[in-house]
Amino acid sequence: MEKTKLQELLAQMTLREKLGQLTQLIPPLLGVDPDVDITGPLSEMNIDPEWLPEIGSTLNAFGAENLRTMQEKHLQRSRLGIPLIFMADIVHGYKTIFPIPLAVGSSFNPKLYETACAVAAKEGAAAGIHLTFAPMTDLVRDPRWGRVMESTGEDHYLNGEMTKAAVLGYQGKDLKEKGRLAACVKHFAAYGSPWGGRDYNTVDLSEGMLREFYLPAYKAALDVGVAMVMTSFNTVNRIPASANKWLMRDILRKEWGFDGVVISDFAAVDETITHGVSADSAEAARKCLEAGVDIEMMSTHYIRNAEELIRSGKLEEALIDEAVLRILELKKALGLFENPYKDASVEDEKALIQCEEHLQAAYDVAVECPVLLKNEDVLPLQALEKKLGKDLKIGLAGPFACMGNLSGGWAIAKADDDVSTSLLGALQNAMPNATIETAAVRHMGALQAGIEDMEYYPEEVEALADCDVLIAAVGEPAADTGESASKTVLRLSPNQERLIHDLRKLGKPVVVVVFSGRPLEILPILDSADALLQAWFLGDASSRVLADLLTGKANPSGRLSMSFPVNVGQIPVHYNAYRTGRPSHGQKIRFVSRYLDCENEALFPFGFGLSYSQFAYSNMAVDTLDGDSDVVAKARITVENVSDIPGMETVQLYIRDVVAQVVRPMKELRGFRKIYLEAGARQVVEFEITRQMLSYWDADNRFIFEPGEFEIMLGRNSAETGSVTVSLA
Ligand code: BGC
Repeated sequence: MEKTKLQELLAQMTLREKLGQLTQLIPPLLGVDPDVDITGPLSEMNIDPEWLPEIGSTLNAFGAENLRTMQEKHLQRSRLGIPLIFMADIVHGYKTIFPIPLAVGSSFNPKLYETACAVAAKEGAAAGIHLTFAPMTDLVRDPRWGRVMESTGEDHYLNGEMTKAAVLGYQGKDLKEKGRLAACVKHFAAYGSPWGGRDYNTVDLSEGMLREFYLPAYKAALDVGVAMVMTSFNTVNRIPASANKWLMRDILRKEWGFDGVVISDFAAVDETITHGVSADSAEAARKCLEAGVDIEMMSTHYIRNAEELIRSGKLEEALIDEAVLRILELKKALGLFENPYKDASVEDEKALIQCEEHLQAAYDVAVECPVLLKNEDVLPLQALEKKLGKDLKIGLAGPFACMGNLSGGWAIAKADDDVSTSLLGALQNAMPNATIETAAVRHMGALQAGIEDMEYYPEEVEALADCDVLIAAVGEPAADTGESASKTVLRLSPNQERLIHDLRKLGKPVVVVVFSGRPLEILPILDSADALLQAWFLGDASSRVLADLLTGKANPSGRLSMSFPVNVGQIPVHYNAYRTGRPSHGQKIRFVSRYLDCENEALFPFGFGLSYSQFAYSNMAVDTLDGDSDVVAKARITVENVSDIPGMETVQLYIRDVVAQVVRPMKELRGFRKIYLEAGARQVVEFEITRQMLSYWDADNRFIFEPGEFEIMLGRNSAETGSVTVSLA
């Protein structure tokens, strides 16, 4: 359908029909699901059932058959035959579950995110879905916030690269293409910075801070053509994001030229009343429409008030037309006017969901995500076996040792038939000659459910005394991660800490594997661990991947996408903090910017991660270039695998602007390259440095390049780099 045809369609629509397009309800409220009694929830929504044929989209309904039927019924009663869009939260896989985004961030391999999202799109599209509410690209610095698991981490450059890959993975080049989903970047804006890490709490940031750190990853999604943007629940500088004209009209639309659809988060239009910036339903509708929210998700202020607002001259109808046209354009881009079912197919669903290829992809992505944080001559287990010259006897303990489902939060459409094995099963498969004894493997409850620790009996652990190596599989329950899962204590539960210390007392090497959706406070158990592998939640391939990494069949290559704090009091502890006038330089003296009882530095910094290989860095050099090209310098370093184990290393480029009009971060990631090196091999890794990479937001919020001195840093993580200072113009 041409744009003019859409305009003709718009011209035929009544105001009621238009307002229906601007409203999104869950399917039970649409009255097209025969099994659901709509009187209860509908009355809560305060709408008349007569509105239902006009509604434009739904969320979180799944299944080809279900969605085909729903669309069919809807089209029978929609006067102009305008199809529904089926939207859903496919966050890290549809049925084949991939690692949580924070883990994918740790792979430092955007290509993997693209693969994960492309597979999720194939499965989701076959199941009848048209659009996913992903990627979430909120910058996160506070692990108390449960939703850090949905982000790729604390760095805007890494987030931007990951976001672009995710959008391309979901959308491909053409939304009509079979197996593609439209993507929706969220949550605009700065949802990842709530005070105290408490979900839905206030966000208050200077414009410079917003532009420098928080906005770039959303913009990156726009750069690759993301179809939709979702607002956030929080306020941004005292105005709720969903009523924030400056954010949506001035930045998103005018400055960035976004012409796709903006959707509110779940009932966020309604919450402008609770926030106390809208006096009533009518004001909520007017403010959010004027601010630029096209679709109101799960509240009904638009359809209840817009007719009267227009009649009384308080709202321009043109705003409604504009929003409807954008939604119709999205339906057109998805090809829904020609084929309202898009790719929904029961046969494809059967063939694709958790097919071998998809499970292999889940493995390939997951294997690059875990981060080896400590290893004192214990891993890989194969090497230990060689050293001891006998088949290993392994003691495996902890609440995650026998758990099959290791998906983590936001795997809402996960398959009923769990294909994943437990770590116990996977280790046994990977080391058939080993004997594995288990102890203290009872599951632990989620804080969310009001339960906490696992039951623990120390005698069970004593029975592992004759094992050669002890593995503790510990962490936080998946239900304690994700939305509405903020915490003030990030330590392992008391019995898990006790378990690790008791294992230590047995005098055998102890390996700790930590499952979590956030950086936990692991210092209290670190001394009791000879090795520590941060596993995150890896999805369907979790146990296989972890068994391969522990045994040495695979080599860890993850690097932290978020700094691990020494303790909660240190948060935020991101690596790219602004410079202060009284840096401590590690000195324990008064009147410098430091804590009396704790160092400033993270326990494990952003970008950190070990490997079974050893990499040596040498010959760093920076060549400055003259001329008009945007490239003003080239930086290079030689990396050599000085071990006899092939492996992957992530070379990281950080830059610091020595003097500027405003205070600049101590360093900022500006590039990274993940390389594979055979044992003994070496490679020169080179980065081009452009003026764009050296530019910043000045005091008047202009993005400028100022010639001057820049410190160029290359190395293995944000705390270990070589550095050269050069003058660049
Ligand atoms: C979440 C969004 C999600 C939406 C729809 C909200 O509670 O904040 O991320 O997309 O629900 O499920």
